[in-house]
Amino acid sequence: GQRLSTNDIVTMKRRGERIAMLTAYDYTSAQMVDAAGVHMILVGDTVGMVVQGQDTTLPVTLDQIVYHSQMVARGAQRALLVGDMPFMTYQVNVEDALRNSARLMTEGKVGAVKIEGGVAIAPTIERLVNVGIPVCGHLGFTPQSTHAMGGPRIQGKEPSAAASLVADAKALEAAGAFAIVLELVPASVAQEISQRVSIPTIGIGAGPHCDGEVQVFHDLFGLYTDFKPRHTRRYLNVAQDVVTAARQFVRDVSEGTFPGAEQTSDIGPEAKERFRA
Ligand code: KIV
Ligand code: NA
Repeated sequence: GQRLSTNDIVTMKRRGERIAMLTAYDYTSAQMVDAAGVHMILVGDTVGMVVQGQDTTLPVTLDQIVYHSQMVARGAQRALLVGDMPFMTYQVNVEDALRNSARLMTEGKVGAVKIEGGVAIAPTIERLVNVGIPVCGHLGFTPQSTHAMGGPRIQGKEPSAAASLVADAKALEAAGAFAIVLELVPASVAQEISQRVSIPTIGIGAGPHCDGEVQVFHDLFGLYTDFKPRHTRRYLNVAQDVVTAARQFVRDVSEGTFPGAEQTSDIGPEAKERFRA
């Protein structure tokens, strides 16, 4: 079928259909995630942590997100592709935000970009939306502000902070964002926000009342094992399985049982005779 649009995603909320979003960073993982029927694929700047092995998402560049988006776009035909705008590619000024978002859409082939922040970034989001660049917001714990927030902590626990989150969500909706990721937000606060805005909320560590859920591929399938966020569920333990399988490969090569007959081709006895002569 046809690729899902941001309108389709908004319609899903109106119909009470829940939205499943998953990250992917390359062609093969995008193929798998798309085949599973995920509605949105996020080319997230978590690539910096789970693929590059960095401590935070901050060092990820626009060139890198463009590169990963190109690979994902080749692997996924149906899901809406959302590309993360990296740290400082949209905060300095609106012109930067416009040019950099446009690059991600034209070169990276994404259908929307994701930008962290609330009221303060809403005017930028409005400009992007007005020139035809769909924007997904991101509130609560915003990893590009990890140094200011003191690491991954639940945001909006105090009544005043919860009220600020609601105001941020309303500002993003008014600016024309088509969806909002809510990361590390108390369940009841996320529920309140989800009821107060007409665009879908996509939770991660934000409880069961959001309109959808987003998770990181490497967390969900047990590929990234440095730590396990409480909000994730390990559907597979791929890292463990790969280590076990690779150990078997090492053993087989050491013992001379790999490659075997099935992996081998040879010339016939006659040709062998002539070759040796
Ligand atoms: O980069 C990312 O993967 C994200 C999700 C965790 C929402 O922003
Ligand atoms: Na991100």
